[in-house]
Amino acid sequence: MGAVRHLYVHVPFCAHRCGYCDFTTVTGHDDRHSAYVDALTRELDARGGVLADPPETVYLGGGTPSRLGPDLLGRLLDRLPRASRETTVECNPEDVDAALAALLAERGCRVSLGAQTFARPLLEVLERRTNPDGVRAAVGRLRAAGVPSLSLDLIYGIPGQSEADLARDLAVVEELAPDHVSAYELEAKPGTRFTVHYGAALAEQSERLERHMDLVIDLLGAGGYDWYEVASFARTPADRAVHNTAYWRGRDYLGLGIGAVSTVAGERRANGSKLAAYLDDPTGAPAVLETIDPDTARRERVMLGLRLADGIVLDGDLAPVIDPAGVERLVALGVARTDGGTLRLERRGRMLLHACVAEILG
Ligand SMILES: C[S@@+](CC[C@H](N)C(=O)[O-])C[C@H]1O[C@@H](n2cnc3c(N)ncnc32)[C@H](O)[C@@H]1O
Ligand code: SF4
Repeated sequence: MGAVRHLYVHVPFCAHRCGYCDFTTVTGHDDRHSAYVDALTRELDARGGVLADPPETVYLGGGTPSRLGPDLLGRLLDRLPRASRETTVECNPEDVDAALAALLAERGCRVSLGAQTFARPLLEVLERRTNPDGVRAAVGRLRAAGVPSLSLDLIYGIPGQSEADLARDLAVVEELAPDHVSAYELEAKPGTRFTVHYGAALAEQSERLERHMDLVIDLLGAGGYDWYEVASFARTPADRAVHNTAYWRGRDYLGLGIGAVSTVAGERRANGSKLAAYLDDPTGAPAVLETIDPDTARRERVMLGLRLADGIVLDGDLAPVIDPAGVERLVALGVARTDGGTLRLERRGRMLLHACVAEILG
């Protein structure tokens, strides 16, 4: 038995590649779903020895895990270790029928549902395969089935999105009352089809991003959500995302499937992203294998830890990479505060996260 407490499983299949998406995805190849689940099992058999028994969290992300459908998703969950604290499955609204919702509830899975927006024209801009009623219906089915925890993903900064549009999305979120909300600023990679097509509208959105973020924080806060991480909001501390929090704390995790990254005992590994090669040999050589030296690991933990409202401990093992003068400058500027040896970024500091991190890493 190993010591790694977190398992990520990548399920790359998607009905369609949304224009803005930069994840490892595979469209078509629906006939390969079953072979992929078998390949994941083989990879787990070969590499799973590093996992604690039981692991604390298992996270099925994508791509679109819900695209496997209830039978195959059930088979995959059967083959994975059972997590002691949290099992999350990312779902797309159009996949959530009664059978899928029942499976997820029966297995006690937390669901992360990709809503993105409730405005029909903006769903079209994002090339989503659903409409606002479809998103609502998925939420209704998951609730009726009794999933233990529901998180909604929202995106803001969509070409053509006004502040009023965003405020309406946030009002719908409040009405649907999920346990957790992730609200992401739209990232559009330079040179992609999406960026070329929406270049001017994206430039306009970048001017509005700060106001959009303020609106998200204010309205979700007024609705009773705690802003515990730069893009994450939870109704209560028990509703926080345990798996993601482990990432932000720099914990080790094992990643399975194409494109999946693992960080185990000072080594980072990324699997190759080609489906055919993975199906042939899921235990083949990684695309990336690198040693993370202790100071790099510390710097990464500072960068990730400052995303959290709980902040980082200054005088513990992160001390070698922290510049005390930089910390003082942030406090003097009013973007951070220290309290009993813990450094926390204030609202403005978290909005200017990268600049603050650069300041204290010296
Ligand atoms: C792994 S992704 C996709 C999960 C699922 N297939 C879906 O589309 O809902 C998880 C979340 O990342 C967010 N996301 C994906 N691409 C993004 C981008 N370019 N910018 C900001 N957020 C993005 C979306 O909110 C999405 O729900
Ligand atoms: S469905 Fe999700 S993972 Fe697939 S392309 Fe769209 S955003 Fe990316």
